[in-house]
Amino acid sequence: MSHHIVEFKNVSFRYPDGTEALKGIHFRIIHGESVGVIGANGAGKSTLLQHMNGCLMPTSGSVTIGDLLLTLKTRREIRRKVGIVFENPDDQLFMPTVFDDVAFGPLNLGMDEARVRERVHEALRMVHGLDLRDKPPHHLSAGQKRAVAIASVMAMEPDILAMDEPAANLDPRSRRLLIMLLKTFSHSKIIASHDLDLILDVCERCIVIRDGKVVADGRSAEILTNRGLLEENNLELPLSLQTR
Ligand SMILES: Nc1ncnc2c1ncn2[C@@H]1O[C@H](COP(=O)(O)OP(=O)(O)OP(=O)(O)O)[C@@H](O)[C@H]1O
Ligand SMILES: [Mg+2]
Repeated sequence: MSHHIVEFKNVSFRYPDGTEALKGIHFRIIHGESVGVIGANGAGKSTLLQHMNGCLMPTSGSVTIGDLLLTLKTRREIRRKVGIVFENPDDQLFMPTVFDDVAFGPLNLGMDEARVRERVHEALRMVHGLDLRDKPPHHLSAGQKRAVAIASVMAMEPDILAMDEPAANLDPRSRRLLIMLLKTFSHSKIIASHDLDLILDVCERCIVIRDGKVVADGRSAEILTNRGLLEENNLELPLSLQTR
């Protein structure tokens, strides 16, 4: 199914202050693949993810989602396909109540009210967040905000999921729930995280970014056991692989 393919061709990105955050990123993710993106602080992971739906546009190179080349014209259509959970939930939640935030995407897709209610209920149920539905998002705890941000993306039923540090602030049980949710999502997904145990558990493939470039791309089972490569990138073996 070509509409679930993500392709970055030689993507470079410079922030307005001159910081070159991506320097020729190249990869292709096919339908159903689950890919982790790892690397040190400042390596370019969040910048890369924000290119998945045109929150940021490449300074040079191209991003293709399914059959669509990312341009200012196709960006709207691409946003219907790619659901992004941002690193900071405050960038995602802006409505007066949790219900309104989770309903925002489906309403924008033009769904009728009954369907929207169903979607919101199902998405909040997935993250065990039904009790939060009437609360203002800015009154939620950090982990609750994260869960609602995930629900707001799941409610869109995206073809492709991109998540930036999805497990940050989640308590261990909510983290486990997220891992189960990610495993049941059968379409393509790309997850940036320092939680290497989560990546090992959920992603069969892993891309290592350093200083805006891909320095390794391969099977998580190999990359996440390569102590030298991990250490060069300020990372450590997943806890589950560390011997006491
Ligand atoms: N708005 C911005 N303006 C200028 N430079 C930026 C901006 N946002 C990020 N950067 C820079 O771009 C580079 C990549 O940042 P990015 O946020 O993509 O890193 P990251 O890999 O997600 O790091 P972390 O693990 O800390 O989340 C860094 O050098 C950062 O300082
Ligand atoms: Mg980041």
